[in-house]
Amino acid sequence: MAFAPDIAQNRGALASPLAVTQLRLSNFRSYVSGALMLSGAPVVLAGPNGAGKTNILDAISLLSPGRGLRGAKLSEHVHKGPAPSEGALWAVAATVTRGGTDYEIGTGLTLSANGGEKRHVRLNGVEAKSSADLGDVVQMIWLTPAMDRIFIESAGGRRRFLDRLVLGFEPSHARASTRYETAMRERARLLKYGPRDPTWLDGLENEMGEAGIEIARARATTLERLNRALSERQGVFPSAALALTGEMFDDAQTLRNALAATRLRDAETGRTLVGPHLTDLNARHTAKRADARDCSTGEQKALLISIMLADARELARARGGLAPLLLLDEIAAHLDTMRRTALFAEISALGAQAWMTGTDLSLFDEVEAQIFAVEDGCFREVPR
Ligand SMILES: Nc1ncnc2c1ncn2[C@@H]1O[C@H](COP(=O)(O)OP(=O)(O)OP(=O)(O)O)[C@@H](O)[C@H]1O
Ligand SMILES: [Mg+2]
Repeated sequence: MAFAPDIAQNRGALASPLAVTQLRLSNFRSYVSGALMLSGAPVVLAGPNGAGKTNILDAISLLSPGRGLRGAKLSEHVHKGPAPSEGALWAVAATVTRGGTDYEIGTGLTLSANGGEKRHVRLNGVEAKSSADLGDVVQMIWLTPAMDRIFIESAGGRRRFLDRLVLGFEPSHARASTRYETAMRERARLLKYGPRDPTWLDGLENEMGEAGIEIARARATTLERLNRALSERQGVFPSAALALTGEMFDDAQTLRNALAATRLRDAETGRTLVGPHLTDLNARHTAKRADARDCSTGEQKALLISIMLADARELARARGGLAPLLLLDEIAAHLDTMRRTALFAEISALGAQAWMTGTDLSLFDEVEAQIFAVEDGCFREVPR
């Protein structure tokens, strides 16, 4: 651990109303231990390849529901090196300030007595049921280089992206998704191995119908919100239009009937051929009148940033002005000077605690942020 204790003791004028003010890591990826004290302002982590910048963003992302920005297995976060003799396999803890109130939140993985692994989540010293509870304290959005190809790669990636957007507005979306997927898996198992008991299948399709329509409605409502915000956008991060594609169902009964009608084909193919798990997200660059997949790499990145900024603005609007944290991995690398300046200005206007990484400090000359040089797992605040 390395950090200069005389820094960032006071929350400055740039502090966001929702911000991480302390971050502590233990046995997490490249960090045996690490701590950062933050002013609440946007944060820049600059340093060479392999310094441990993305690992910090990954750690923060685990303080939200789900598996974080790498989507990695929880055991992959364990620091590769001498195993700790006791305690957690890894742990991430933070003090988060939210509208003037401090919250202590943390998550980690431990070995249970029978040798299994268990994720723990703590809110103000009390063990929470699941990581879903973290969503009440801190909201966050991330953009990573792996997402740059989202418009040209598989529909699954776009669906996961869409569902994270939905989750920000409708936390119950996670529950509906789990309900739907559990019933879908069970139905696929019955169709494959039997018994193909019609009453049992009816029950599962009923469950899929209800949860599936809830999922579809939540997605549609979120897209309506985002499209409204996206249509108002001007400047270098373009206006865009989002749409759901794939077969849509008006109500639970219609979806249920479609599932019942496709039982035989599903049994033959070993897949589920109808339902919201097949929905895709289409994005259009409005000014260019082109689908995102036909835009240049830089244009696609700008579209993603537009969506992220529209989402952040809508989330802030829905939560009394509290903008979500923005985890922006290597954000500056592919942006020209004009776009970088515009992004920094939008982050300031949002009042969000953005966490930005890059290999080159000079990319962040114009941003109003707390800047840390990261090297070999150590942090040094760079005076401005
Ligand atoms: N479980 C682990 N245990 C130990 N080290 C790990 C583990 N997982 C990743 N690392 C190492 O952490 C180091 C830092 O990774 P990270 O992705 O944070 O780098 P970075 O600063 O973002 O670099 P880049 O600029 O290339 O993106 C890498 O050298 C990686 O091999
Ligand atoms: Mg990185």
